[in-house]
Amino acid sequence: MRAAVMHEPNRPLVIEEVDVESPKAGEVVVELAASGVCRSDLHAWHGRTAFITPPVVLGHEGAGIVAEVGPGVTGVAKGDPVVIALYGPCGQCGECRTGDVTRCWSETRVHNMHGRMPDGTTRLSLGGRPLTPMVGAGTLAEIAVVREAQLVKIDRGIPLGLACLAGCGVTTGVGAVLNVAQVRVGSSVVVIGCGGVGLNVVQGARIAGATRILACDTQSEKLDLAADLGATDGLLVREGEDLAEAIRGLVPGGVDYAFEVIGRPEVVRTAFASTRIGGTTVMVGSPAPGSEIAVDGRMLFSDRRLLGTTGGGNIPARDIPRLMQLYRTGRLELERLVSQRLPLARVNEAFTALERGEGARTVIDLRS
Ligand code: APR
Ligand code: ZN
Ligand code: ZN
Repeated sequence: MRAAVMHEPNRPLVIEEVDVESPKAGEVVVELAASGVCRSDLHAWHGRTAFITPPVVLGHEGAGIVAEVGPGVTGVAKGDPVVIALYGPCGQCGECRTGDVTRCWSETRVHNMHGRMPDGTTRLSLGGRPLTPMVGAGTLAEIAVVREAQLVKIDRGIPLGLACLAGCGVTTGVGAVLNVAQVRVGSSVVVIGCGGVGLNVVQGARIAGATRILACDTQSEKLDLAADLGATDGLLVREGEDLAEAIRGLVPGGVDYAFEVIGRPEVVRTAFASTRIGGTTVMVGSPAPGSEIAVDGRMLFSDRRLLGTTGGGNIPARDIPRLMQLYRTGRLELERLVSQRLPLARVNEAFTALERGEGARTVIDLRS
């Protein structure tokens, strides 16, 4: 099968013919239909992700059809449409048993983050050398071999070219609102950074019933999209201007909830500075390793909360079907999030677009 392989950071991905082993116990072969390209893929491509070591198959936002199941797999069968979830919990540790799968930090999960099966091996190889899939997913490929625990079956009839977005961007954005911040009806929200993930924070805030949703981005095109998805106000961010003050100008006293969705420590500070007393800030963007977040100590003292999240606190088996229902009933927009669709052979163009901040999401069509 063909896969987009990163051999070294900052060099174009190479479409390689990759060897795939048969699934072992608890494993599933998925024929991928589509994969989004997320900023975390770009972070990995820049060599900014500590647990990703080349050669690696990038991609972690995919959907496809089950092609083969290994021994002991009972939850999915050949032909089932599935979304590959962001994390592969162990299912056995204390966190997993209480349903808190996002906090699983077992050996299995750590292996999963590194793209390895629980026994430390991988089912992919290139010229006899092991090849790891990014976070156990590696969705910029025609095939993925994943643990059953990392799959969520979805209804037939939902286009896989849209469902793939539930693998990361949509679940992270909406989850940050519903699961992490737990935004209340009638509240005010600011979203700083309205890309593939941030636009879903905007949608999540609308779904949660926020009545004031301020979208902030350096690109007016993103503000237009945010308005289509439910933002009530758009603020074009310009260098040298005090964004927190501008937000406070629109919502006197500050907003109830602020979301940073870029991965920049100084923007987390701005987000925090725009909240009211008792307000909540959620850092959704992933900052570079070693970065430090500085906030005004007096403001934190005034009952404000600053929270972090990996992937929006999602419980995939609960949240992905929920999102699909929201889509089906017209409350979650997916089509508008896709700015372009490209074949795998043109995957590098998706990274260039992300780097330039063009469009919301590129979806790679893995069947063309
Ligand atoms: N102020 C406001 N907006 C900004 C700024 C800034 N200083 N700098 C960049 N942006 C905007 C970009 O214009 C873009 O619309 O932030 C958005 C970032 O979106 P994407 O590049 O599409 O990234 P996305 O995939 O949404 O990921 C955002 O979340 O999950 C994490 O790792 C991911 O850290 C990344 C973040
Ligand atoms: Zn992602
Ligand atoms: Zn666990």
